[in-house]
Amino acid sequence: MRVLVTGASGFVGTYLVMKLAERGHQVYACMRNRSNAFQEPVNNLFFDLSDESMLFDAMEIAKPEGVIHLAAQSEVRVAWADPMQTLITNAGHTVTLLKSIIKLSPYARVITVGSSEEYGWTGKLGAPLTEEDACLPQNPYATSKLAAGQLALQIASHNDLNLIHARPFNHFGPGQREGFVISDFASQIARIESLKAPPIIRIGNLSAERDFTDVRDVVDAYIKLLETETGRGVYNICSGKPIKIKEILDFFVLQSRLPIEIQSDPSKFRKSEVPLFVGSSNKLVQATGWKPIRDFENSLTETLDWWRRG
Ligand code: GDD
Repeated sequence: MRVLVTGASGFVGTYLVMKLAERGHQVYACMRNRSNAFQEPVNNLFFDLSDESMLFDAMEIAKPEGVIHLAAQSEVRVAWADPMQTLITNAGHTVTLLKSIIKLSPYARVITVGSSEEYGWTGKLGAPLTEEDACLPQNPYATSKLAAGQLALQIASHNDLNLIHARPFNHFGPGQREGFVISDFASQIARIESLKAPPIIRIGNLSAERDFTDVRDVVDAYIKLLETETGRGVYNICSGKPIKIKEILDFFVLQSRLPIEIQSDPSKFRKSEVPLFVGSSNKLVQATGWKPIRDFENSLTETLDWWRRG
């Protein structure tokens, strides 16, 4: 299949492009920066999604049968600092992308990538979230992803596009940059062990519970959704198991090669925070047979080892 991937050089994009290529797809990897180019047989397309005419050119070159739209501003903290840019990047660019698909690849299978954050306050009820649950987003990132998803679903239905809006819950793995809890913890431990930082780890809210999946399992879910003719609409991607952030910290502290002091950092706490997200992936499992296969603790260790290698 000819597959166009936006945000291809990002954390998830890199895994996705490699896996698609491995499976024999003809991949068109879209990114801004030439220094992130993939090697053959992947085709690289360099442009910024805000440049509509370059986007249309790329769509014309790729003529994709599948599109996976990963490009986004994905940090909750950054979204608070610049809500408007987050809305433009996450929702606005999704609309422009769909415009180019309607014009140049109207039969493509399209996957837009949302977030469990879209469910917002509904999460705290504690039952595994399903695609039918109400969305009550609590921060500008969550709102931008809900807007992107709703616009995508409406535009798709109006124009008869074959579109899936995926809602991945928290994901992590080797290669994820700082700004996300597991990388924030692992990177600090690696710096402490290499004596580049004093033996103090700074942390935020440890009582929150999140549903974590290894990035490679999430990528497998995107590929299953791409390759399987499932019904259109929203699909959760999650493990179904809530994990307390404190459990992750405890695991890392036990793995640390040096004793570590834990210090609460007020700047890492959020004013409005949904205490719990846990999802149900039943719809995805039934439609595609997907199952996460990576062991959580093993993936944590792999992530820490990645940071240790520097
Ligand atoms: N980032 C971070 N750093 N979070 C911390 C820290 C820390 O040092 N200490 C505690 N936390 C808590 C946060 O308050 C939050 O409750 C939880 O750890 C997870 O935080 P993040 O990893 O920043 O993830 P997120 O849940 O806000 O958003 C992520 O997951 C979404 C899917 O649900 C992002 O990856 C989003 O892009 C993604 O859509």
